[in-house]
Amino acid sequence: MELVVTISDLRARLATRRSAGPLGLVPTMGALHEGHASLIRQARNECATLAVSIFVNPIQFDRPEDLERYPRSLEVDAALCGSLGVDVVFAPSILEMYPARLECRVEVGRLADHLCGRFRPGHFSGVATVVLKLFEIVQPDKAYFGEKDAQQLAVVRRLVSDFNVPTIVVGVPTVREPDGLALSSRNQRLDPQERRLAPSLFHALQEVEKAVAAGVVDVADLRQLASSRIPSDPRLRLEYFDLVGPDDFQPVDRVNGPVVAAGALWVGTTRLIDNMRCVPRQS
Ligand code: PAJ
Repeated sequence: MELVVTISDLRARLATRRSAGPLGLVPTMGALHEGHASLIRQARNECATLAVSIFVNPIQFDRPEDLERYPRSLEVDAALCGSLGVDVVFAPSILEMYPARLECRVEVGRLADHLCGRFRPGHFSGVATVVLKLFEIVQPDKAYFGEKDAQQLAVVRRLVSDFNVPTIVVGVPTVREPDGLALSSRNQRLDPQERRLAPSLFHALQEVEKAVAAGVVDVADLRQLASSRIPSDPRLRLEYFDLVGPDDFQPVDRVNGPVVAAGALWVGTTRLIDNMRCVPRQS
């Protein structure tokens, strides 16, 4: 496994490997866990050469304290990548990625109007911008993203189609703890009591999925059901819970086809997100 920190070094190393077969990229912000490992394993199976990027992207953080508190563990991450058979870890500095103030950014339209986009202004523009930069730098044949961040996955799919990027975007199912909590780098920040409360968002999603499957179509009722599954505890605050179309990510009032139920839950000072695809009885 090679650890490279400059774009020119990365390009030189990848150039010699390209003829071996498909080149895969797994973009991450580090603090790697089993969710990332699942993306890496799938990519390893499907690609001749595998690059993992580790870069805590400042321009996608809407709150400075979230950026400051974001866990960083490059050495452990690199060791994990090595054990998973990654060929190259690309861990650039902020200056390497952003040597000058950006004059151009990717603007994301309606896809970013709701769910996380509504509460994190500029977040998806920051994600789309860094992902486009990484795609230009690595030029991967395939890139892997988790369904855990469903709105991000939808934005990236649209990014490659709108900008004719010749990369296949692969979505990978969410990896969860045994109690249902979706793995996230931010889970590290939870104290033991918060950790016990954290799976309530998953329980709310499960309830809603069951209700949709049983024929409940009214979204107001489904949101009410979701809220009722979040224990009343001063440490918990449901930021949003919505049902959106699976492709356009626009909210629906009634369920008349597959939808994505998604929520963001504040657990103390940590914000967790999760989502679940819900399929009504008839479809
Ligand atoms: P990060 O949060 O590190 O996540 C990297 C990738 O791992 C994303 O595609 C995310 O959806 C996926 N992932 C995280 N938790 C997962 C889980 N429990 N199960 C399955 N996949 C999971 O997402 C980002 O970084 C950044 O926004 C990035 C795309 C790298 C751009 O900066």
